[in-house]
Amino acid sequence: MTETDKKLIAEAKRVREFAYCPYSKFAVGAAVLGASGEIYGGCNIENASFSVTNCAERTAIFKAISSGEEDILAIAVVAEGAAPVTPCGACRQVIAEFRIPHILMANLADDVKEMTLEELLPGAFSAEDIIG
Ligand code: THU
Repeated sequence: MTETDKKLIAEAKRVREFAYCPYSKFAVGAAVLGASGEIYGGCNIENASFSVTNCAERTAIFKAISSGEEDILAIAVVAEGAAPVTPCGACRQVIAEFRIPHILMANLADDVKEMTLEELLPGAFSAEDIIG
């Protein structure tokens, strides 16, 4: 793990404290590294209409993209659990959309798992499938 990886995990842990999760009580933090060097954090934001909930990973990615980042180099996600938390299917699809090559998963005990995009979502549906 690089120093940048450690910084990403630390930021994901920090913003996890802001999670809005009154329904699940499962707080998640994420952080992404933009090509500019900037780090963007995000937490899960739940809703009484459950399906409208936004996961931490998507909050962080959308924050980076809407701040003008065109490339995202890495993402970290952190939650409390016996093993590092794993991104849901919807977030995997969004991670694939922006071709984020390096995925870090961690828990509060600092167990860390690293994956490539191909390991996270093999055979992802992508722009090439539409355009041909
Ligand atoms: N959640 C995330 O934010 N990221 C994940 O990778 C897994 C799930 C959130 C969604 C919901 O607010 C709560 O965790 C329980 O599913």
